[in-house]
Amino acid sequence: MWKPHERIKYTVVEDQWPTAKEVGASRLFGPIQIGPMKLGSRTWVPAMVPWRSNENGDVTEDVLAWYERFARGKPGVIVVEATGIRDIPSGPLLRISSDKYLSGLTRLVDTIKTASDGETRVLIQIIDFLQIRRRPDPTKYLNRHLILRPEHYVALSLPFEAENEPAVRTALLSLSPEDLESVLNQKEWEDLQYGYRERITDTHLPHIAQLPEILPRLFCDAAIRAQAAGFDGVELHYAHAYTMASFLSATNNRTDGYGNTLEGRLRLPLEVYGAVREACSKDFVVGCRILSDEIIDQGTRIEEACSIARALANAGMDFLSVSRGGKFDDAKQPRVGGAVYPYTGRSGYECMPSYISDAQGPFGRNVEPVSLIREFLRQNGLNTPVVLAGGQYGFYQAESLLKENKADIIGFARQALADPDWFLKVKLGLGNQVRLCKYTNYCEGLDQKHKQVTCELWDRENLDQPGISKSHDGKRRLLAPVWSPPVIEPVTK
Ligand SMILES: Cc1cc2nc3c(=O)[nH]c(=O)nc-3n(C[C@H](O)[C@H](O)[C@H](O)COP(=O)(O)O)c2cc1C
Ligand code: SF4
Repeated sequence: MWKPHERIKYTVVEDQWPTAKEVGASRLFGPIQIGPMKLGSRTWVPAMVPWRSNENGDVTEDVLAWYERFARGKPGVIVVEATGIRDIPSGPLLRISSDKYLSGLTRLVDTIKTASDGETRVLIQIIDFLQIRRRPDPTKYLNRHLILRPEHYVALSLPFEAENEPAVRTALLSLSPEDLESVLNQKEWEDLQYGYRERITDTHLPHIAQLPEILPRLFCDAAIRAQAAGFDGVELHYAHAYTMASFLSATNNRTDGYGNTLEGRLRLPLEVYGAVREACSKDFVVGCRILSDEIIDQGTRIEEACSIARALANAGMDFLSVSRGGKFDDAKQPRVGGAVYPYTGRSGYECMPSYISDAQGPFGRNVEPVSLIREFLRQNGLNTPVVLAGGQYGFYQAESLLKENKADIIGFARQALADPDWFLKVKLGLGNQVRLCKYTNYCEGLDQKHKQVTCELWDRENLDQPGISKSHDGKRRLLAPVWSPPVIEPVTK
């Protein structure tokens, strides 16, 4: 993963925790209204894919156990991981793309509600993404996959005739990397170096040109299913490296009315929202996740992010959850046979900053941009709640952000992974028992390899205890160890 060149190492230390009484009077553990839904606290577990589903995209027993573990900590909201809306093979990504998933998803909601004693509200993040292939073996790519063009023949001084195809391929194989780069066009070179990846701007491909026609229906059907399964709402995934974020991106130069200008870039996200809102009942929450900054060359910066947030809030979004970066554009080159991963470049670092950082440090890099977005909304008469995530682990850190009106709700992703009981421990005045995230990004490394995500702080603990569910290789436990609140004996006279 990319790291700032300063390589300053940060250690998370938190020796100040509130008493239960203080928590009772806090904003963080106070209620807030999100559209039609009231939250008991302003705490939020953002979407995190843990790779617990299967090749069918089902809610497996492991998926249920994973969320049950989080729900026992009783955060205000759990956003279930990015879940696919298309009924196509998507690896072990959870899916909501057909009614066949309804019973599993219903069990998932019931599990979370029961484990949290009804205190946690449950949203599901719904996602569309485009096709991406692994980085090819150069010989295979040049021998089989590259579609030859007349320019290739010309560059190699061979007549453009079918019988010359084998000679062209052989000649391409013998070129030095520099010469090969000069013969291939930019897209072909990138496909060879990183693996083929579709973009929303590939409008010569009919299915890409038609995205504005098909996506509102797909998102809408997924949201209807989410409602039928009992979720309190959906989070439309308009962030990071995926389809909808690409429509919002400043790099979107589609010329069909769905790109080029800010108005054009917003058109599909607004149409998707409109379709979902209309199809779902009034008491169902519809919000989205967006970026405060894409952190890529020519990408959307904070000024435009403010305008995007205003347009989405104006349309009626019930909340805006604001992340940062996480793009394919600056991702590291994968090894041959590996797939490019959008959290390996600088934009990935800004999305999930690690403990090796720069003078600004890994905690709260998204605070100022999020507060600017929130302030801009308020100046425009919009009260839409804004969710902040990125490097949040401490009670006072979160509480001061709320008191200073920098955000309305605080997201704890990796901190909740490190200790799903964070919320309960803090609420009970037992913050000193919290297992603090070290921001090593070990979990993110597992995510990158599509391996079952765990935390290094607990995944080797008591491995030999009976009944512990383990990773496929048997080396890691899949769930954080159980924590039970101390039983307080009644005072007898
Ligand atoms: C293992 C893992 C999986 C993630 N999966 C998602 C996801 O499905 N959708 C999403 O919007 N963000 C995802 N994220 C990003 C987090 O939601 C969050 O924005 C990020 O980790 C920064 O917050 P933190 O510093 O509190 O961890 C993931 C993060 C991790 C560590
Ligand atoms: S592995 Fe654990 S400690 Fe490391 S970043 Fe992930 S959650 Fe935090």
